Amino acid sequence: MSRSVNVAIVGAGLVGSAFINQLMAIHPAVTYNVIVIARSTKALISKSYEPLELSNWTKDLASASAASALSPGDLAAYLEKSPAPVILVDNTSNEALARAYPMLLAQGVSIATPNKKAFSSEFGLWTAINMSSANVASKPTKGGLVYHEATVGAGLPVISTLKDLVATGDEVVKIEGIVSGTLSYIFNVFSTPSSSSAPVKFSDVVLKAKELGYTEPDPREDLNGLDVARKLTILARLSGVPVQSPTSFPVESLIPRPLEEIESVEEFLSKLPNYDDKIEARRKEAAESDKVLRFVGKLDVSAPQGSQVKVGIESYSNSHPFASLKGSDNVIAIYTKRYGDNPLIIQGAGAGAQVTAMGVLGDVLKIGERITK
Ligand SMILES: NC(=O)c1ccc[n+]([C@@H]2O[C@H](COP(=O)([O-])OP(=O)(O)OC[C@H]3O[C@@H](n4cnc5c(N)ncnc54)[C@H](OP(=O)(O)O)[C@@H]3O)[C@@H](O)[C@H]2O)c1
Repeated sequence: MSRSVNVAIVGAGLVGSAFINQLMAIHPAVTYNVIVIARSTKALISKSYEPLELSNWTKDLASASAASALSPGDLAAYLEKSPAPVILVDNTSNEALARAYPMLLAQGVSIATPNKKAFSSEFGLWTAINMSSANVASKPTKGGLVYHEATVGAGLPVISTLKDLVATGDEVVKIEGIVSGTLSYIFNVFSTPSSSSAPVKFSDVVLKAKELGYTEPDPREDLNGLDVARKLTILARLSGVPVQSPTSFPVESLIPRPLEEIESVEEFLSKLPNYDDKIEARRKEAAESDKVLRFVGKLDVSAPQGSQVKVGIESYSNSHPFASLKGSDNVIAIYTKRYGDNPLIIQGAGAGAQVTAMGVLGDVLKIGERITK
């Protein structure tokens, strides 16, 4: 019997494009027929649910007539009539689409996504997603499956590993990680274990990170710590800690307060050097005790005063694995009852279109295997 699945791809930017190209290059046992490719203003939609011809998809999408974004309601109505099981691949960071996951899952649509919004906003949305999905095998629901490996650590196997640990009865004690590629790069360059390298100004490193394309167009979106807070929210929830929202625990922002309200990115970057002294003093103090600064997220499940999550700068001795991190790599140390004092460590590229798309495609293949059984 031939096994086939329809795939609706929303978001065709860096990750979405890499995803489509990777999907076209493989020959899995299940056939994945792409029936939608949508950007914010243009879409290719197969009205007959026959597979779209993908060989010139970039050109075809570019020449499609401009339209407003496909609303989650329109998408749901279209996918409901699909003659084959459907996987929605959400390669956007769109909030409205993320909020429609419970409705789509309840309708039987499965979802693979690197979009953090659905899993790291208010706890009610997280609960609604879990209630609507069929991820929990014991649940008698017709809901779709939802996989989101690439929401933390891009293609690194962080989410699947954590889920396996918990599902097999292990208990998370602590998680500590550098989960922002941008802030990893900035601190790896700014605060090095080697005393031979000349100190660099924090603001210069931020500028360099922007030039290299490591930051968001507005670097304040990286420096405010919210991206790391969202990732910690996801890790904590998967560890059984019901974190209410990414703003319900302490998050250190690296944006000097007077620069928070400035509108233009250029003005922000031109004024950032005025605030180098404070962070340089922290770097120096750490270096004097043979330590480096790193921007980390921490979850401590067994803290005496109850589970604790926090995000911000921490110092680590020069011999700590976090001190020797390179480039924009991520590292996540998971301490559990079974692993004891030696944590399970996952390390490697935590950003980039190719590795992120790999994480999403891996999820699609897992879903495809499960929904065509
Ligand atoms: N890039 C990475 O290294 C990385 C790593 C880990 C996770 N992620 C996550 O992956 C997702 C995609 O990131 P990216 O770097 O590919 O971003 P991107 O290049 O900005 O692409 C986003 C895409 O989503 C589309 N889009 C936005 N709103 C839409 C809507 N309402 N309907 C249809 N399409 C919509 C955009 O349309 P237009 O093309 O028309 O603007 C664009 O094609 C994000 O959630 C991001 O956080 C990215």
